Amino acid sequence: MLAAPGALGSVEDAKPPGQSSQAKTSNEVFRQKFVEHCSSCHGMDLAGGRAPSLFDQTLLESRTDEALHHTIDAGRPAAGMPAFKGVLSDDEIWHLIQFLRTSAGAMKGKRPFVESPNNRIVDSAKQKFRLEVVAAGLEVPWGMALLPDGRLLVTERPGRLRIIENGRLLQKPVAGTPTVRVGHDAGMFDVAVHPDYRRNGWIYLSYAETLPGYVAPPPSGDAPAPIPPSMTVVVRGKLDGDEWVQTQTIFRAPPALYTSSGVHYGSRFTFDRAGHLFFSIGDRGSISAAQDLSTPIGKIHRVNDDGSVPSDNPFVHTHGAVPTTWSYGHRNPQGFAWDPVTGLLWASEHGPGGGDEINIIERGRNYGWGVITMGRQPGIDQRAESGMEQPIVYYTPSIAPSGIAFYSGDRYPRWRNNLFVAGLAGQQLRRLEVQDRRVVAQEVLFQQFGRTRTAIVGPEGLFYVLLQNPTGGTTGLKLEASTPGMVVRLMPVD
Ligand code: HEC
Repeated sequence: MLAAPGALGSVEDAKPPGQSSQAKTSNEVFRQKFVEHCSSCHGMDLAGGRAPSLFDQTLLESRTDEALHHTIDAGRPAAGMPAFKGVLSDDEIWHLIQFLRTSAGAMKGKRPFVESPNNRIVDSAKQKFRLEVVAAGLEVPWGMALLPDGRLLVTERPGRLRIIENGRLLQKPVAGTPTVRVGHDAGMFDVAVHPDYRRNGWIYLSYAETLPGYVAPPPSGDAPAPIPPSMTVVVRGKLDGDEWVQTQTIFRAPPALYTSSGVHYGSRFTFDRAGHLFFSIGDRGSISAAQDLSTPIGKIHRVNDDGSVPSDNPFVHTHGAVPTTWSYGHRNPQGFAWDPVTGLLWASEHGPGGGDEINIIERGRNYGWGVITMGRQPGIDQRAESGMEQPIVYYTPSIAPSGIAFYSGDRYPRWRNNLFVAGLAGQQLRRLEVQDRRVVAQEVLFQQFGRTRTAIVGPEGLFYVLLQNPTGGTTGLKLEASTPGMVVRLMPVD
């Protein structure tokens, strides 16, 4: 039985928006496996058949991957389901499970979207709160940082640094910030304030840059202009009124690493207590680079506040290694947070089609991208390998996690020491209860206010969250389209 067109969606349109054609091909392979071995009983849609639908989100969410794997491997002979051990390999079964999860996510149908979240009340499991719009009228807000005087700095991906002062978005962006390459993932990214800002005034910015000196080749026939090579850059500078001055380079890659890929630039910031700056650089679409210690791509980096290399970095004595590397095997990490209880550094990372990860980042460790993944990536069949870290939790289908934050204030006491994860595709703010190195419970706090880029905690203990109107999927916009965004604040309600 087939669902009415458009009512429930079907496996045909189950591809999450914005995936590469490679991922599409792999999706197609496992769709065919499903048709060949499973659909005669389980059906192709949410209606199911002789056996229950396997695209049912409720069913999938209540089963672990391991439990599903076991059922498929051993079958349910008593109920009439054959064992697939020997028919499908272990890896084929893992991929089939990911296909089910991804498809189910895409079939869930259109999410409700609340365009004006101001004064909406959310009654979550442990805390009731009201959303308060701090400033609207931003375009793809990406990063956010608070100055000691209460002003809020927000980057916009199209290449602007904005100031929000006394709850008012200053009309003019900061003048004189670096020229940014904009397109697809590229643009201006994170902003951070030096821990000792009061004394030194340094502000850090990351952005995508077109290769300096690049000259586009003359147009040839009707061919579209080639995409210029670009790469992630980190600078610091100061604010003089509403002007950006005294720019210093903290990180700039050699010209050979600038590529015409428009994806996976990283690049979130965090400082540790000793004043080291951590920043991430994604794999720029080059999977193998993440395992290659001689390139800064697919790494989390640690530098002194002036960009110099700390002498206790893990690879400073490894011949040929990039000395700023702190950890490697990363696909596209875009969130950092320090656990207030253990002092450990947690990070989020985008997976390849499912397999989004939350990791604990430790000195010199390998997080496996290029060799292992919980997501779907043609050419990668392994989920684990000795010497490579497993994620603490992972998400299939993708929520596209970006900024993350631990809460240690006193405005929402029952959230203390929880980890908050902003999800773009997942359009959500998610709360994770953490015990030592484990996530013991999770809750989606909201899912109706659009793409959620990052969350930070202000000095008064309130969450500030960046939202952006939905893109991709049923909006008809490209996933990377520019849409309006805003800063909201979560006000506790008793
Ligand atoms: C001949 C019919 C048949 C085929 C073919 C079949 N199944 Fe099943 N399957 C069943 C039935 C019937 C059940 C329900 C068992 C029950 O209710 O206890 C089931 C249960 C399951 C469950 C457990 C669901 C749950 O509630 O935990 C999974 C997972 C599953 N099947 C996966 C598959 C996959 C994947 C394939 C193809 C590789 C497949 N099945 C092929 C008949 C089939």
